[in-house]
Amino acid sequence: MKLSSVVAASAMFSAVNAYPGMNASLIETLKEADCCGSNELIGDLLWLDNSRLSPVALLIKSILIYDTDARSDEFYYQVPALRSFACVRDPCCVWWYIVEEMEKLFRAPDGQCTNAARAAIRLGFHDAGAWSKHTGDFGGADGSIVWAPEEIKRRENHGLEEIIQQMKHWYGKWNSYGISVADLIQMAATTATVVCPLGPRIRSFVGRRDSHRPAPDGLIPSPFDPAEKLIELFRAKTIKPSGLAALLGAHSTSKQRFLDAASFGFPQDSTPGVWDILFYEQTLGVGAPDIFRFPSDIILSQHAHLYPAFRTFTGVNGQERWNYDYAREYVRLSLLGVNNVNNLTDCTRVLPQARTEWKYE
Ligand code: HEM
Repeated sequence: MKLSSVVAASAMFSAVNAYPGMNASLIETLKEADCCGSNELIGDLLWLDNSRLSPVALLIKSILIYDTDARSDEFYYQVPALRSFACVRDPCCVWWYIVEEMEKLFRAPDGQCTNAARAAIRLGFHDAGAWSKHTGDFGGADGSIVWAPEEIKRRENHGLEEIIQQMKHWYGKWNSYGISVADLIQMAATTATVVCPLGPRIRSFVGRRDSHRPAPDGLIPSPFDPAEKLIELFRAKTIKPSGLAALLGAHSTSKQRFLDAASFGFPQDSTPGVWDILFYEQTLGVGAPDIFRFPSDIILSQHAHLYPAFRTFTGVNGQERWNYDYAREYVRLSLLGVNNVNNLTDCTRVLPQARTEWKYE
């Protein structure tokens, strides 16, 4: 049995146990909604057949629709000197130097991830997530959150100003090497994720194109929206409820500032410097002193379509199951609106190594 089937089976088991009175048709609905994560094709993968796909595009396709692990340990051996011909010839080379700089900003002296890291993870979502199947062929992971001044004025993007400035700084420093802001944002998000102790090393691709056109409005979720609205919003991004449950775990590292003034700076679990599953436990449970749980996280965690995944992530092997699912869903998220998947390069090897163990003080 494949890992995802085991996860799905155990999730179904938890769901049935959690809702003893549940009828058969609702269980069928759950199967459809929760089994196996998101699996729709996106971008140019929708119209290019396999014979025309590059090896990287085939890999991405198999991550999106099959059970291919979206994480990798592959390492960059013998990185060429920055200004050498060898570096110019390898599109990943400059990224190794950029990521080295990002890592310094994202890792605190005690090894945990910093405020800049959490902001970068959120920025990755807010650039790529401003896309929907129903709003025409623009938006998504295109750097518009940096390029279009209108976007940063939107209420849901409040708090991202500083990390956007950081992106502009990095772009100013590195753009002569031919990078895009869209890639910079997504590489920063995956670097920040793996820098957080226990975070997955997510496959990271480059070659996205930038757009200066503001993304469609109204596609970034509000923490006050009802669960059904949030679920539909993510479905329109090709993300199923179980995928949404995995992505919400990014709040394991977050600290809110603008939702509740009285709890300014409060994290969403007790260990915001570590990519652990405490967020799932504390969101499902009664919380803890000095944390602030988002209303949306609470209602989604209790919704029949997400509850099984929340339970799975808190169960045996929960960390591994969450990291696996998060990486798979994040690859999808990071490619929303990208219509040149067939031209992307896999530069995962530039990422720092994952830290799979962490001792709490
Ligand atoms: C229903 C979906 C979601 C809602 C309603 C939501 C809402 C929020 C809110 C209100 C904040 C606090 C902002 C502040 O006050 O500073 C926040 C922070 C954050 N969100 Fe989400 N979010 C959602 C999904 C996601 C996803 C899918 C990701 C990433 C994949 C993500 C990553 C983060 C991170 C890392 C932070 C912390 C930012 C920081 O500490 O600077 N969120 N989110």
